[in-house]
Amino acid sequence: MAHNRTQLLILGGGQLGRMLGVAAARLDVELTVLDPTPDCPAAATAARQVAASFTDFDAVVAAAADADVVTVEIEHVSTAALREIARGGTPTRPGALVLETIHDKLTQRQTLHDAGVPGPRFGALSEAGSPGGPGSPGGKNVAAAGGGAAGAAAAAFGLPAVQKLRFGGYDGRGVAVLDRGTDVIPLSGPSYLEELVDIETELSVLVARGPSGETTTYPPFEMEMDPELNLVQAVLYPAAISPSVAAEAKRVAEQAAAAIDGIGMNAVELFLTTDGRVLVNEIAPRPHNSGHLTIEAAETDQFEQHLRAILGLPLGSTRMRGPAVMRNLIGSGTEGPTTHHGLAEALALEGTHVHLYGKRASRPGRKMGHLTVCRADRTEARAAAAAAARAIRTTGSGDMMSERSTK
Ligand SMILES: Nc1ncnc2c1ncn2[C@@H]1O[C@H](COP(=O)(O)OP(=O)(O)O)[C@@H](O)[C@H]1O
Ligand SMILES: [Mg+2]
Repeated sequence: MAHNRTQLLILGGGQLGRMLGVAAARLDVELTVLDPTPDCPAAATAARQVAASFTDFDAVVAAAADADVVTVEIEHVSTAALREIARGGTPTRPGALVLETIHDKLTQRQTLHDAGVPGPRFGALSEAGSPGGPGSPGGKNVAAAGGGAAGAAAAAFGLPAVQKLRFGGYDGRGVAVLDRGTDVIPLSGPSYLEELVDIETELSVLVARGPSGETTTYPPFEMEMDPELNLVQAVLYPAAISPSVAAEAKRVAEQAAAAIDGIGMNAVELFLTTDGRVLVNEIAPRPHNSGHLTIEAAETDQFEQHLRAILGLPLGSTRMRGPAVMRNLIGSGTEGPTTHHGLAEALALEGTHVHLYGKRASRPGRKMGHLTVCRADRTEARAAAAAAARAIRTTGSGDMMSERSTK
């Protein structure tokens, strides 16, 4: 089919796809979104939705027939389909190998370690009955057979430690702490161990890389985690770190993005430890929750930057216009059809930029939207963002009665 507009296929239709669609419209890029959920968040900003699973090889390959470029907003897509699409001459950015490296957190760790990227000490933790798992010169191999033997094996690595599932974890769901003296391995499934890092600050550095490796990097953003939900609660710019730590964070993040050869946006999660080390936690080879504040606070937002990078356009300026704070709007109360309470009250607060994701169902702990406030200083922005976030409560509509009064 002949067309003049650039055709972009995105696998996954959540909020990242929705916000990518806004940037795509500005550049007159026509977006097709592939997602199994009817009326997914990205459907509202895409030209069309293909209702299929992103792990469905045939559906993904067929959907790419008219695409000039294929990208992703989630990591768990059929990489076999991406390979097939690339064989046919259509670039997939990021590529299959990048996603396969990221899918398995242990392979990701190993890849970063092999490239000399600083990270927590780690070691494989094999499942009951299986051999020692892949070699890990970065740490000790730990053979765990369950029960006391597993405890002994973990003790050999050194406790306390963090157990991480190799596959499928997100929002802290695949992460558990093993306390000193424990003989219980909390998570079942293929996993590995990491040194429990004493974290001073969690940082995110967004690195955009074009098709020939040209790179632009945003300054570090500070992530505040929700201690119960284990997901990002707030993101702050500027991060409260010294210029030398900021420079080190930038260097390490660029090194990490290059190590996986991520094309497009790469969000590099970092730990600044209490003893001053900058370590890579993990990489998301796509736009990321930690970069939402770039929509209002940066010269180029992360979604447009991702488009520029994957389409081979000049990368935009990453200059920040000033301090900003983003807060996630998380579902609470009961599960059910989405209702946002207190929206008008939040919008009445000056300078509050609200982004609702259009998810039909609200669930406790689910990301339902976010808001960003820009101010002349970070402390003010943080207070204003907290007040606006307090005004909004997103629930399944079942629990209207338990709603506190919003005047
Ligand atoms: N080695 C570690 N030491 C201390 N805390 C950690 C470690 N790894 C992860 N965490 C904490 O758990 C959170 C989630 O871990 P992460 O590997 O980023 O998983 P997810 O894929 O769920 O984001 C991190 O943001 C951090 O707060
Ligand atoms: Mg993480």
